[in-house]
Amino acid sequence: MKVCKAVIPAAGFGTRFLPATKAQPKEMLNVVDKPLIQYSVEEAVDSGIESIGVITSRGKSAIEDHFDISPELEHFLEEKKKLDLLEQIRRISNLAEFCYIRQKQALGLGHAILMAESFVGSEPFSVLLPDDIFDCEVPCIKQLLKIHQKYNATVIVLMRVDEEGMKKYGIVKSKQISERVFKVEDMVEKPGPRKAFSNLAILGRYVFTPKIFEMIKHTSPDHRGEIQITDAIRLLLEEEPVYGYLFEGNRYDCGDKLDYIQASLKLALKRPEFKEPLSELFIKNVDTNDNS
Ligand code: G1P
Repeated sequence: MKVCKAVIPAAGFGTRFLPATKAQPKEMLNVVDKPLIQYSVEEAVDSGIESIGVITSRGKSAIEDHFDISPELEHFLEEKKKLDLLEQIRRISNLAEFCYIRQKQALGLGHAILMAESFVGSEPFSVLLPDDIFDCEVPCIKQLLKIHQKYNATVIVLMRVDEEGMKKYGIVKSKQISERVFKVEDMVEKPGPRKAFSNLAILGRYVFTPKIFEMIKHTSPDHRGEIQITDAIRLLLEEEPVYGYLFEGNRYDCGDKLDYIQASLKLALKRPEFKEPLSELFIKNVDTNDNS
């Protein structure tokens, strides 16, 4: 069955980015020259997704405006003959069909995904966490969809991490079944190196069977009162097989200030127009008091 829908959870407060996120959504922070969330939307669209359900909360209306038409701006750009910009702006509003769903309380990622149940219905669907930017020849979610098609099961994306990563991500216990495919046996949310099953971490891309909604409803809140998607997938493991996939490509973490700055620089360095001036800056060893 073709997966046509994606869910993008974007309801969090973005506390790690305060004060930048006091009056603007974290998902709208600029990365090189477009907002963070646009990377996930484009990845989904490039993977064949047609409808995108964005989970939002109060204060997130800039996301809706970004993917909407903007007649005044379009008129202005047309008059000024800035046709390149006009095309870019129009393209954004034509990317996909968007649906916005409110999560009224911050009750965790699992709960946020559950908010999409009526949007998704009883089909398999994908989830993209916008903090992660994937830069891959074949879009990351497309790689997972291929595995989903093969096994007709839930698939999560995996990456090998160091000890620091074991504190930041969900970690899986699994059996390798081919070079990049793993059959998941168990998982634990951010265990740290001492309790980690392995060095295989879960990143922010998932393809779920609709059964996950029932599992989320049966998941108890964690010590912080949040319903974690990792705990719901553990329940799902008792009912259905779950596969992990070591993706091919690069991934940039935009989850906190330092990671975000590093991700922005690395992505900018990939652009021919920024590569040389930025490289020069590093060679000069950046004196922040020097404006010359
Ligand atoms: C979530 C998941 C975690 C996963 C991570 C990937 O955590 O709960 O298992 O490793 O995304 O980015 P969060 O970053 O929302 O705390």
